[in-house]
Amino acid sequence: MMRHAYADGHLRYGVVGCGIQGEKHVQVIDLIPNAAVVAVADVNEDRARMLGLRHGAKHALTDWQELLAIDEIEAVSIALPDHLHREVTVAALEAGKHVLLEKPMATSVEDAEAMLAAQKASGRKLMINWSNRWMFGFAKTKERLDAGALGDPLYVYARLNNTLYVPTQMLSWSASTQLPFWLICHRYDIARWYFGCEAKRVYAVARSTVLKELGLDTPDFYCATVEFEDGQVGNFESCWILPESMPYLVDSKFQLICSRGYVNIDPTPPVHQVATEDSYAHEGFLFGNVMGQPVGFVRNAIEHFVNCCLTDREPLITGEDGLHITRALAAMVESAQTGEPVEL
Ligand SMILES: NC(=O)c1ccc[n+]([C@@H]2O[C@H](COP(=O)([O-])OP(=O)(O)OC[C@H]3O[C@@H](n4cnc5c(N)ncnc54)[C@H](O)[C@@H]3O)[C@@H](O)[C@H]2O)c1
Repeated sequence: MMRHAYADGHLRYGVVGCGIQGEKHVQVIDLIPNAAVVAVADVNEDRARMLGLRHGAKHALTDWQELLAIDEIEAVSIALPDHLHREVTVAALEAGKHVLLEKPMATSVEDAEAMLAAQKASGRKLMINWSNRWMFGFAKTKERLDAGALGDPLYVYARLNNTLYVPTQMLSWSASTQLPFWLICHRYDIARWYFGCEAKRVYAVARSTVLKELGLDTPDFYCATVEFEDGQVGNFESCWILPESMPYLVDSKFQLICSRGYVNIDPTPPVHQVATEDSYAHEGFLFGNVMGQPVGFVRNAIEHFVNCCLTDREPLITGEDGLHITRALAAMVESAQTGEPVEL
């Protein structure tokens, strides 16, 4: 356990993918005292230049291979669309960089296996950024479980939804992913973390109506029941067709039933309501700036990775974890397609 928030040393850093999530990585790396942004890369040149300039990067590139060729860069964040993670991750590890890869690890088991093999061959660190583990309620619940305060975790019900804005406007690549990889993975990671074992049997149902009519070939919603090795059960639900009039982009509910306790985590209450004479808004909870500085779980997860690199510790979420999680998520997709349960 580190006594201070920041490990000694200074990690020279690159960020591949400067979209919504990549920007957060650049912001956090620029801010924290033990890391510095050396280069950013995005096929969108304006985006790379804008972020590079704003955060003092020496290089703003359109080709990630050029970024990986920069010797002084020791670690990279990869924040590319879900289906594009494998090639860059493998290349980054082969180039000797530590990698913080955005969730999901991959959209296929084959891709996840290739990345894990590259990590093992390289001896570098690979963390998958299931950053919700750093959210207050999820982290506190893990502490209570470890302390035995709740008894044994038996059952998780988890719902994580988005409004239609996300697949139709926010993401240009929504048809290249599916809800188990985009949303369910966050809650599956938490359930697996609490249960401490792997999925044994997965049954899932998905339906396509709304997005199909809009020309997007990815299901509207998924419901998945997962039986775990030690008998625990998780029910995971996710949709991304909620009306855009919803006050939040995200709708979330999480319940954990234990042999001697119950936990309810709802990260989307109106934490901050703002009403003016002509408008009413709820402030989101995902990422915020306070006095010009990023705060919250997104920052904490990235800091954890930087500290692990500098102190040569294993990150909390490794490539091995990522592969196990990918197997369960891919089984959800397979089960929904075949109508049959998948045994793992
Ligand atoms: N940890 C979390 O809570 C969290 C939250 C949101 C998104 N994500 C994940 O982060 C990743 C990125 O999501 P996003 O919302 O930032 O998407 P985005 O579409 O906003 O950003 C993706 C960026 O990648 C760039 N890009 C695409 N192909 C490229 C290539 N070959 N080379 C260089 N740049 C390329 C695009 O131009 C774009 O700027 C996804 O895997 C997503 O699931 C994680």
